Amino acid sequence: MSNVFLIPRTIISGNDALEKSGSYLKKCGNKAFIVTDNMMVTIGNVQKLVNVLDKQEIGYELFAEINSEPTDQMVYQGVKTYKETKCDFLIAIGGGSPIDTMKAIGAMLTNPGTLADYMGKEIATLPPALIAIPTTAGTGSEATQFTIISDTQTEVKMLLKGAPLLPAIAIVDPELTLTSPPNVTAATGIDALTHAIEAYTSQKSQPMSDTFAVSAVKRVFKNLLKAYKNGKDIDARKEMSVAALEAGIAFNNSSVTIVHGMSRPIGAIFHVPHGLSNAMLLSECLKFALAGSPERFCDLAKATGIYENNMSDLQGGQAFITEVEKLCAQLQVSTPEQFGVDKKKYFDQLDKMAEDALKSGSPQNTIRNVGKEDIINIYKALWK
Ligand SMILES: NC(=O)c1ccc[n+]([C@@H]2O[C@H](COP(=O)([O-])OP(=O)(O)OC[C@H]3O[C@@H](n4cnc5c(N)ncnc54)[C@H](O)[C@@H]3O)[C@@H](O)[C@H]2O)c1
Ligand SMILES: [Fe+2]
Repeated sequence: MSNVFLIPRTIISGNDALEKSGSYLKKCGNKAFIVTDNMMVTIGNVQKLVNVLDKQEIGYELFAEINSEPTDQMVYQGVKTYKETKCDFLIAIGGGSPIDTMKAIGAMLTNPGTLADYMGKEIATLPPALIAIPTTAGTGSEATQFTIISDTQTEVKMLLKGAPLLPAIAIVDPELTLTSPPNVTAATGIDALTHAIEAYTSQKSQPMSDTFAVSAVKRVFKNLLKAYKNGKDIDARKEMSVAALEAGIAFNNSSVTIVHGMSRPIGAIFHVPHGLSNAMLLSECLKFALAGSPERFCDLAKATGIYENNMSDLQGGQAFITEVEKLCAQLQVSTPEQFGVDKKKYFDQLDKMAEDALKSGSPQNTIRNVGKEDIINIYKALWK
């Protein structure tokens, strides 16, 4: 069997990556449409980008309308403003929310129909150049062909896909992540870890994605807690920004699996941030998947130094999952109850959540067969 491997054309990474990106941005167009949120304006990250654009005499329009995880309505507003302001390429600066919004705006500029039309289909036509500048070390969206947009009518987090959505340039500058608060650092770091574990244990894994996945798991284990405890630890931040990028590259070329499939409905209905809903599900989902391939989970125990001599693959895999649970506990991950999810609504919605999870296609990539009953049982187990 052959494999395809896609990454952004240019990746600029390291402490002064944004400052050094000017000549690359100059080649993308004359007027940038900057997609971001108000926090990025307040903390000065947008100004750092504007300084680079000014130096290169690149014009810009600021679209700072992303105030939560992206919806179809934010995207359509962005398309309208882009056209009115005559921009010719797009830059997203922020977490996964602005980056995903940028990709969807780009897609809707060159592809016909609505976003919902592309569920389960490939977005085929190239948008104007997309430049991604992540400020969380988490989603890896800077290196993926995916965008996740909530349909405001159906309350479904739509997973949309297509190689044209892969950013042309990813600018991965850890200095931009130094201000990320501990709860965001924890949730986004667990998102990156989840991408890497899922990519490695997916039915669609391939040797090239394995390399990036294992490397990302190792970096997260060594650095996430440090970045959480001391946000100003630039070395830990740098390692986490590389880990998130690696994990993005890994799942872009493999896939995510049951955790992400089940996480999106929780996010869509109860507005739990993406990384946190992954974290809530991680232990139960991994315990379920373990039986599908103890060897793959044991590989991760070996890579992270958790494996001890004479352990069977199953014991090694279990030890790895126990370490993941410990890390989540140290990062003070909330349960649905602690987050304030309405228990009655949650149980009333179980059937829809399971249906939506399966419809996304992600659970089917799990190394063990997953049925609707399995999904419902795991959702229930979060309230033990
Ligand atoms: N496209 C993909 O491949 C992919 C993969 C995983 C997740 N996602 C999507 O990404 C979205 C979540 O992105 P996210 O987890 O990065 O969160 P986010 O972009 O929603 O940001 C979370 C919060 O952190 C703040 N923030 C971000 N960076 C900061 C910084 N440096 N300093 C201070 N505050 C900062 C933001 O302003 C926001 O309030 C979800 O919609 C999820 O579905 C996409
Ligand atoms: Fe994710």
